[in-house]
Amino acid sequence: MSGTPKRTSSTNIEGGATFRRTSNTARGSVSAVGRRSEAGLQFTRTQDDLTRPSATKKDMSEWLVKLEHMFTVTPQRMRMIVDGFVEVLEKGLAKEGEDVPMLPTYVFGWPTGQEKGAYLAVDLGGTNLRVCHVELEGDGKFEVTQTKYRLTEEQKHADGPELIDFCAECLGRFVQDHYADDDGNVILDEPLSLGFTFSYPCVQEAIDHGVLLRWTKGFGAPNIEGHDVAAMFKKSLAKFDVPVELVALINDTTGTLIASAYVDTATRAGIIFGTGCNAAYMEKISSIPKIADKGLDQTEEMAINCEWGAFDSSTHEHLPRTPYDVIIDETSNKPGQQAFEKMIAGLYLGEVFRLVMIELIDEGVLFLGQETYKVEKPFGFDTAFLSLIESDTTDELLTVTGLFSHFYSLDTTIKERQFFKRLAQLIGTRAARLSACGIAAIVSKQGYLEDGCGIATDGSLYNKYPKFPERLGEGLVDIFGEKGKGIRTYHAEDGSGVGAAVIAAMTKARLLAGK
Ligand code: GLC
Repeated sequence: MSGTPKRTSSTNIEGGATFRRTSNTARGSVSAVGRRSEAGLQFTRTQDDLTRPSATKKDMSEWLVKLEHMFTVTPQRMRMIVDGFVEVLEKGLAKEGEDVPMLPTYVFGWPTGQEKGAYLAVDLGGTNLRVCHVELEGDGKFEVTQTKYRLTEEQKHADGPELIDFCAECLGRFVQDHYADDDGNVILDEPLSLGFTFSYPCVQEAIDHGVLLRWTKGFGAPNIEGHDVAAMFKKSLAKFDVPVELVALINDTTGTLIASAYVDTATRAGIIFGTGCNAAYMEKISSIPKIADKGLDQTEEMAINCEWGAFDSSTHEHLPRTPYDVIIDETSNKPGQQAFEKMIAGLYLGEVFRLVMIELIDEGVLFLGQETYKVEKPFGFDTAFLSLIESDTTDELLTVTGLFSHFYSLDTTIKERQFFKRLAQLIGTRAARLSACGIAAIVSKQGYLEDGCGIATDGSLYNKYPKFPERLGEGLVDIFGEKGKGIRTYHAEDGSGVGAAVIAAMTKARLLAGK
């Protein structure tokens, strides 16, 4: 079944004029800083400014010792976390209402790799809304064409039905652009089949149904929690007269699992390390006691969306939370939720870094005598900046210099820059090592260690954060010893696009087979 996917670089078609596109994001300007620093145009200061008051080296190194202690997760601690994690995963399969809900997805078994046909996918998951046309060609091959729309903060908190309407409108525009004849009419033999990737915890009772348990990742649109998102989307499709049939509602992790299994049979879990953090894997239906009364074929398997970001949220007995993690939780729009995710995911790492800075500013250790209001804005320090800081290999840490002067109008001493680099390493390494604990929990629970397995992984942290994959690998060896090397993480196929299409195809095949 495995074949070489035709990795057609996904085209960004001109989005409708009414929608904001992704290209002009803040992240674009971050990389621009990197380039400027390489060219040496902006950052000429290579000596510390000795005339300005500066914290003593001792203060900073004392703080570093303290922070290293707080952020280091030892191999022994990791193994304890894994043990606790396995128990929590099992509890979630046994009973409703657990912290980690282990959500049945109604995606039954693995793809064959021979799924074929044209499908549409809508992906609402965090920063962007994406609409894709996916052509599955069989033999694990596919072609994707996509358009992205940037979601504004207002939209993330607008009335729920409005947000869902926006998704349907974008899809309608996409269908118009791709399927209309010269007169602008869309005439189809049958409605197009759609997989809707909605990457938030949904309780499903069928593949085309899903009640939003709670928003995560900073979303807060009212009037969706507790509602069937699939039904809402169908209503919006009818409202805008979009000739599309919603076949499957899926999570991005489930999509990642299935899209990667479509091209590589070694895949055993699909994990997202992006704005949020979560995992899906395939479970025997006979091992999901909480759905024993549903009359499902006990010999089959079903993908489980773990929603592991919620690990340790109510008891706080497993994770080594720092005071900074507590502040993030308490000031978030969802206090008391997603404890694990808040220590790992891209949405939060920059804020952890910023909160440490703020404490050290208050303690009179950093940026003495300077106006620091620009770093005082909550969530005003992007996780992409940690990536940049960690990637700076110049002796004088010139990218770090540029970053602080350009975005925050702050001068830095070399000692401060070295401190920031070490702090970024500590935060990034902790995220990877805790992530390794989650992977290890699935591997242990499922007995994948002996033979080794493939873990398909996607998201900006995995793909862009320096050394994140290597640190994951080191973490797995710290937990399992040499055998940990048999757990291979790799960049996943596009779960929210290709995965949604493969799942839609699998669902249609099951329906045709009368299941
Ligand atoms: C959050 C969501 C989850 C999603 C993950 C990655 O944890 O709750 O559904 O899979 O982010 O996008």
